[in-house]
Amino acid sequence: MSLAYTATDSAAPFQLRPVTPSVGAEVSGIDLTESLDEKAVAALRAALIEHGVLFFRDQPVTPDHQVAFARRFGHVPKVPDSMFLVHEANPHVSVLLNDADRPPTVNNWHSDYSFAPLPDFASVLRSVVVPDCGGDTVWAGMFAAWDGLPDRMQQHLDGLTATHDFMKLYERPVKKRLWEGERGRLMEAARREFPPVSHPVVRPHPESGRKALFVNESFTRHIDGMSEQESRHLLAFLFEHCKAPEFQVRFRWSPDCVAMWDNRSVIHYAVADFHPARRLMHRVTVLERLREG
Ligand SMILES: [Fe+2]
Repeated sequence: MSLAYTATDSAAPFQLRPVTPSVGAEVSGIDLTESLDEKAVAALRAALIEHGVLFFRDQPVTPDHQVAFARRFGHVPKVPDSMFLVHEANPHVSVLLNDADRPPTVNNWHSDYSFAPLPDFASVLRSVVVPDCGGDTVWAGMFAAWDGLPDRMQQHLDGLTATHDFMKLYERPVKKRLWEGERGRLMEAARREFPPVSHPVVRPHPESGRKALFVNESFTRHIDGMSEQESRHLLAFLFEHCKAPEFQVRFRWSPDCVAMWDNRSVIHYAVADFHPARRLMHRVTVLERLREG
């Protein structure tokens, strides 16, 4: 039985409206401050897997609501207090804060924790304070990106693996602030915790089997077994390919929105066009299973 409801399906526990054919759907008629029944959770999961990112508006969820919602989909780890600030009332919630003193620096395409042996399954991001304009987030659908490659390129890539490295992003000068003072000690610990790791360049989705391209500009360092030059050119082609607007959806935040995305099939980019305005977001991570250690 398909759990992919349409906007006109009277049996649906919510309404679903795709935003683009490639990626993203808006969900309405659901209250994330309430406990959802199994049917609604299963239907949301099916929608997430099909559309890659779900958008919910007018959801005044507390950090506890957000964590309870995320837990319906998998394991919710505590926030590692190295790269992110931790919410004082709930250690499972990351606080993403930008203002005049903290300019935004996540304007790079990435998949959350692709540098980990077990990358994040889903991320659940809630807007608390948003700029009057700007501060959008953009997602690219990696099913569509894979489907959009020529057959010969797909054959070339299938079976390859690539090394993902935490340091590819965090060694950049723009991240220098993170390595200063007490924070620097935590970053060193994160560097030791996440040595470079290999992942397939194309991954069948673990739940749907659909193939998704799994590389991102922030963390994918090189294609294994290739010369430095061949890898650099091939990755440059793939990074550029993923930026086609046909694969993308862009979300304009207002306060109390929630976006939930599947890091196994989308990459995302936080548009850094709003400095010095304030932007405050709460993020919760969902894992398929708990990381060891
Ligand atoms: Fe992210």
